[in-house]
Amino acid sequence: MSAPWPRRPRLVAGNWKMNKTSVEGAALARELVTLLAGGRPCEIAVCPPFTALESVGAVLRGTGVHLGGQNLHSETHGAFTGEIAGPMLAAVGCRFAIVGHSERRHVMGEDDATVARKTRAALRDGLTPIVCVGETLAEREAERTTEVLVRQVAAVYDGMPVADVRATVIAYEPVWAIGTGRVATPDQARDAHRVIRATLDRVAGAGMGAGIGILYGGSVNAGNAAALFAEEEVDGALVGGASLEATGFWRIAVAANAG
Ligand code: PGA
Repeated sequence: MSAPWPRRPRLVAGNWKMNKTSVEGAALARELVTLLAGGRPCEIAVCPPFTALESVGAVLRGTGVHLGGQNLHSETHGAFTGEIAGPMLAAVGCRFAIVGHSERRHVMGEDDATVARKTRAALRDGLTPIVCVGETLAEREAERTTEVLVRQVAAVYDGMPVADVRATVIAYEPVWAIGTGRVATPDQARDAHRVIRATLDRVAGAGMGAGIGILYGGSVNAGNAAALFAEEEVDGALVGGASLEATGFWRIAVAANAG
């Protein structure tokens, strides 16, 4: 069972994707820790590749910066060559696990049911899942954004016990904004976050939507972060490319504190 995650603290999480060796990751973490010497502006997490979790975790220990995995398998152990289980992430010091990232859904073929299983597994294994949802460009252009978000959120949260819902974080990541430099407008993020909260109210229980942290992800950088954080629906950011450079990532965290 996961430790409860506080009600909607500002959270900036870095998703390093398939970048940084163990040694390079530790160096980046050291740069970040140096920048944070004057204090942490908000809750911060970094999600390195599995092979860098140990070295990055060693640098982050005692700093208050959280460690996260980018994915996990839904079983705890067994004959699943190439996979990583939640208890392995927890044992190396992870607090978070990203679940259902669009690259997992669209490149690696994970469907809604898989994402739901992985979310339950993360909770079972004491991790806070960052559940990613978001529409493709074709879906947005066909005015299917709401339908897609409702389906993706319902698949994970329908009937989930209240304590579990509260132990999760959601990331709204429109697929067309990820790695493209084309960031959603604050209004687009606000509207999507509202759809997600309304869906949570319907499938997980009245009032659930208002209590859950929803991050925006997709081409967030130090230049556009403040405008997104000024939108009260946005509780933080899941940052890909811009998390690979310590100063820029730190500036996003500073903007989250100010927003
Ligand atoms: P990006 O990636 O910031 O590079 O667009 C975000 C993500 O995929 O989590």
